[in-house]
Amino acid sequence: MTVLEVNRLNQVFDAHTPNAYQALDDINLTLDEGDFLVILGGNGAGKTTLLNSIAGTLPVVSGQIKVRDHDITNDDVAKRAAYMSRVFQDPRQGTAGLLSVEENLAVAYQRGQWRNFWARGVKKRDRDFFKNQLAGLGLGLDNRLNTEIGRLSGGQRQAITLLMATLKQPDLLLLDEHTAALDPATSQTVMALTDHLVQSQHLTTLMITHNLEDAVKYGNRLIVMMAGKVVYAAAGTDKQNLSVSDLKNIFSEYGTIL
Ligand SMILES: Nc1ncnc2c1ncn2[C@@H]1O[C@H](COP(=O)(O)OP(=O)(O)OP(=O)(O)O)[C@@H](O)[C@H]1O
Ligand SMILES: [Mg+2]
Repeated sequence: MTVLEVNRLNQVFDAHTPNAYQALDDINLTLDEGDFLVILGGNGAGKTTLLNSIAGTLPVVSGQIKVRDHDITNDDVAKRAAYMSRVFQDPRQGTAGLLSVEENLAVAYQRGQWRNFWARGVKKRDRDFFKNQLAGLGLGLDNRLNTEIGRLSGGQRQAITLLMATLKQPDLLLLDEHTAALDPATSQTVMALTDHLVQSQHLTTLMITHNLEDAVKYGNRLIVMMAGKVVYAAAGTDKQNLSVSDLKNIFSEYGTIL
């Protein structure tokens, strides 16, 4: 089943000025249930702009975006949040640093509805569920339910952000360089956790990365963006067989660097 459909999406910054810049140029993209798409491209290629357009933080200039047959093109961020979760590069984004681990999870469990959270706090039944979910991360965080999240390391915090993003199985998971701020070992832990969550929930996922090893290792589809266009796409066995040197060849062919 088709989960995401992006049709002829265009984004122009500073339109009608001498600085007008076409950040997305007629992008078409269709993702089926469980597709895990890796998005590569040099700085300024339009990767974040694509995710911003899907999430609704940028109004669409022209084109159409559909999630499971719902046309969300003109929906605001709050309405689209019912369909998708997003994890950013900065581990501080996406969690409330002064709240405890369990309080953060409780808010995520209600899909960000703070009103219910303040009214009800964290229920015992939910606490047991969170403890279980944290244990599943294998990072020893199940004993840290009452720790202020701001006191955790970036990697621990990013692991919890991922858990929060997937606690209520979203239709779409959007990852924007979510391991880029972590040290190499922690980055690999969080990537393995990402893959585990994506595979076990069969999540439809878009992941931006500059890490070519991760791009080769993870996902069943891959695109390379350049100047607002998709210049290369691979799926199925073509994606499986891609190597880091293949990717480097593609970049040199298009004169782009990562
Ligand atoms: N709000 C904005 N106003 C004006 N120009 C913008 C805005 N957001 C992005 N751009 C421009 O659009 C282009 C694409 O930016 P985008 O952030 O999508 O790139 P990216 O592929 O995510 O790059 P990076 O790898 O550096 O994160 C860039 O030239 C950028 O300067
Ligand atoms: Mg970006």
